[in-house]
Amino acid sequence: MNIIDIIEKKAKKKPLSKEEIEFFVNGYTKNEIPDYQISALLMAIKLNNMSNRETVDLTRAMLNSGVVNDLSSIPGVCVDKHSTGGVGDKTTIVLAPLVAACGLNIAKMSGRGLGHTGGTIDKLESIPNFKTQLSQQKFLNQVKKIGIAVIGQSKNMVPADKKLYALRDVTGTVDSMPLIASSIISKKLASGASIIELDVKYGDGAFMKNKKDATKLANLMIYVGKKLGRKVRAVISDMNEPLGYAIGNSLEVIECIETLKGHGPKDLTDLCLHICAEFLLEAKKFRKYEQAHEYAKGILYSGKALDKFKEFVKAQGGNVGIVDNYSLFKQPKYSFDIISNKKGTIKNVKALNIGHCSMLLGGGRMTKDDVIDMSAGIVLKKKNNDVVNVGDVLATCYTDKYFSQEINDAILNAFTIN
Ligand code: URA
Repeated sequence: MNIIDIIEKKAKKKPLSKEEIEFFVNGYTKNEIPDYQISALLMAIKLNNMSNRETVDLTRAMLNSGVVNDLSSIPGVCVDKHSTGGVGDKTTIVLAPLVAACGLNIAKMSGRGLGHTGGTIDKLESIPNFKTQLSQQKFLNQVKKIGIAVIGQSKNMVPADKKLYALRDVTGTVDSMPLIASSIISKKLASGASIIELDVKYGDGAFMKNKKDATKLANLMIYVGKKLGRKVRAVISDMNEPLGYAIGNSLEVIECIETLKGHGPKDLTDLCLHICAEFLLEAKKFRKYEQAHEYAKGILYSGKALDKFKEFVKAQGGNVGIVDNYSLFKQPKYSFDIISNKKGTIKNVKALNIGHCSMLLGGGRMTKDDVIDMSAGIVLKKKNNDVVNVGDVLATCYTDKYFSQEINDAILNAFTIN
């Protein structure tokens, strides 16, 4: 077998065999096939697609490139969720303690942010002293004891994805359904949970720009996950405007704490309750969705999910004082308001532009090595369907970098006011 034949086969729109897929995944992971040949193959896959069978074979080959987390020593059901990424997507920080307070286990490995999208691990690291690296034994013990642990992705899990994703990022090949599905599902399977919920975002701030494509991707991932023996469900959610009002690391954690206290934004609260209800259904704790949803809501508003969050922060070394005193988070040097120059109703707040501006304020990374300012970001004061007058504050920016006219104008332009 040789890589040139495999590239040519895909370029001629022919399906690759299981053996050919294993050959290129293993060869690339072991540095036996160079970047330029895999780049050509990735582009051929992006242009000519893969069948469902090929996508399953690709996912399996990627999964087998590294270690698989063994959660079998944890009594009870272990669940995991994955979001395809967006702006202000802080769901895990509310959902994980909520799910654990409902009696399920969540042993989660999360990622860091890049570009306009944020990452859960960066957000959690905005909590003073919070540790996102735990030994495997500590990780398992913590889940056994309190039902929840969230750490960074282990280096030896799905090494094929680490290499392939980095290459896709610089060769214009991120945007391909079989490549996205295999990347996400291989990591989720390697994390070891028995029930997986996917939050597939669509809209301006997401990979999938419309609901139809998001549904297609969700169906493909459900198919692949099931073929490889795991229970997978999916929710399709809107990312045309940011989720909640806060964008930026500590700002988002504060919004999550407010949500756990029962006064969070409706879109974030609804999404977390929905995913939690889906977990409870799949784990067979309830037979009807309405019952599961009511139960999750009761747990959230009783304060039990907030108590679980405190246990979680304490277990991972973080300062629990932040829950009642937000000034314990790193504070930004400057803040400035974005003022409306129009009167009307807001029709859209472009998530992509807001995410990009938050990154420019210091809240995100342009390249993997950039250092994040944990206090930087944007808090929206107005969202879709809100009525505004000239002079109203649309958003407040927080930064250590001082006022920027360019960012001011870009945020103003992110608002469509009719
Ligand atoms: N998230 C992933 O983990 N992989 C992709 O390919 C896209 C989004």
